[in-house]
Amino acid sequence: MNKGTNIILVDDDTALRHATRQTLELAGFTVRDVPSASQAFALLSPDLDAVVVSDIRMAGMDGLELFSRIKALDPELPVLLITGHGDIDMAVRAMQNGAYDFIAKPFAADRLVQSVSRAADMRRLVIENRRLRKAAEASQDDLPLIGQTPAMEHLRQTLRQIADTDIDVLVAGETGSGKEVVATLLHRWSRRNRGNFVALNCGALPETVIESEFFGHEAGAFTGAQKKRIGRIEHASGGTLFLDEIESMPPATQVKMLRVLEMREVTPLGINEVRPVDLRVVAAAKVDLGNPAERGDFREDLYYRLNVVTVSIPPLRERRADIPLLFSHFTARAAERFKRDVPALTGDIARHLDTHAWPGNVRELAHYAERIVLGITPPPQAILEPSGATEGLSLPERIEHHEGNLIRQALRDNDGDVRRTLDALGIPRKTFYDKLQRHGINRNDYTDPD
Ligand SMILES: Nc1ncnc2c1ncn2[C@@H]1O[C@H](COP(=O)(O)OP(=O)(O)OP(=O)(O)O)[C@@H](O)[C@H]1O
Ligand SMILES: [Mg+2]
Repeated sequence: MNKGTNIILVDDDTALRHATRQTLELAGFTVRDVPSASQAFALLSPDLDAVVVSDIRMAGMDGLELFSRIKALDPELPVLLITGHGDIDMAVRAMQNGAYDFIAKPFAADRLVQSVSRAADMRRLVIENRRLRKAAEASQDDLPLIGQTPAMEHLRQTLRQIADTDIDVLVAGETGSGKEVVATLLHRWSRRNRGNFVALNCGALPETVIESEFFGHEAGAFTGAQKKRIGRIEHASGGTLFLDEIESMPPATQVKMLRVLEMREVTPLGINEVRPVDLRVVAAAKVDLGNPAERGDFREDLYYRLNVVTVSIPPLRERRADIPLLFSHFTARAAERFKRDVPALTGDIARHLDTHAWPGNVRELAHYAERIVLGITPPPQAILEPSGATEGLSLPERIEHHEGNLIRQALRDNDGDVRRTLDALGIPRKTFYDKLQRHGINRNDYTDPD
């Protein structure tokens, strides 16, 4: 029951310190004991789940000075003072100053254990409250999930309910609907928020790179693997693993991922050992993986494994009442970022907000708001090619040049999204990556900076 909270015990009397330590350990506490106040102070940090039990009279820094230093470090960290005969007045004053309790020597084991237990309970509550407060602040500030339609209220409520559990979550929604926002909130509102939030884009990497990126490798596991590398999955241990665009995960990786999800362990390449990982997995998909027609080569067993809880984000056109709120949020943000005034809402803008279908959902709306703030109209759809760029080239060279432009245009139209770019170009993944390399195109230049 007392697990988690560390008891830091300070006394320069070795025999008494050991006896007290034993009493506390018998009661189930984890105890660190040190002979001086300065050593005790060195162990502390704000937000530490700890209770300090300190003697008052000690050589060097005494218990009262330790108490006042701790107050400056973290005023809510409980300090229990152990006092000799002559120090009771002093101890009472310390309590008026915020010390948690004082215990007069000689004391009964029960009296100490009771007081330490209460202090530990209080400490845990304080830490839990701070965590919740931080999560609430985070959700208000830089990463809002805006929307007052019933669908969004319901979404927020669901997220609050499941964030704190370790349950794996599948987030479904069209492009730009807020899947990454949802995944990030699930992490921030969870107990895992001190661990890493590791986002893996399953469609962004060529198959050969995925395996060593995800699972890591031992030095010399394959040509080019000079140094050992900790995989990104392992990096997420203790935190949240976000598998983005899961529908684009290559089949071979799906098999390995299924194993990770089932066994909660990874096997780096070139090594004969498994490493346990403590994961919360959030996966995002743009297609309905439950529908065999949309699932494509996505494994059914992996789908069922991921689909413990599915959170669906409705497309923007199904919650149009949120559009004005989102638009005013994005224009305000853009005005601040670009140091411009928030523009007046003209009839044209209102009509566009009202009638446009928003296939790119919230992201499209955010980009539209930015363009309005900057006073620019949408770029022309035509491929702009400087005249004379291909002059003097042979026909195959001109075709090559044109191909590069078409690929760039497709990436631009699809915000660098691989799946959609592949669909638009109608070529296999491998061909696509070969071509990127040949034309020296970096897909990341086209992805959304958000
Ligand atoms: N409800 C919302 N409130 C405020 N901002 C939002 C909301 N939903 C999405 N956004 C913003 O819209 C943009 C797109 O959201 P996000 O990246 O989460 O979409 P996505 O579903 O992951 O898209 P894709 O499938 O293309 O990766 C981001 O800038 C995000 O901050
Ligand atoms: Mg995304």
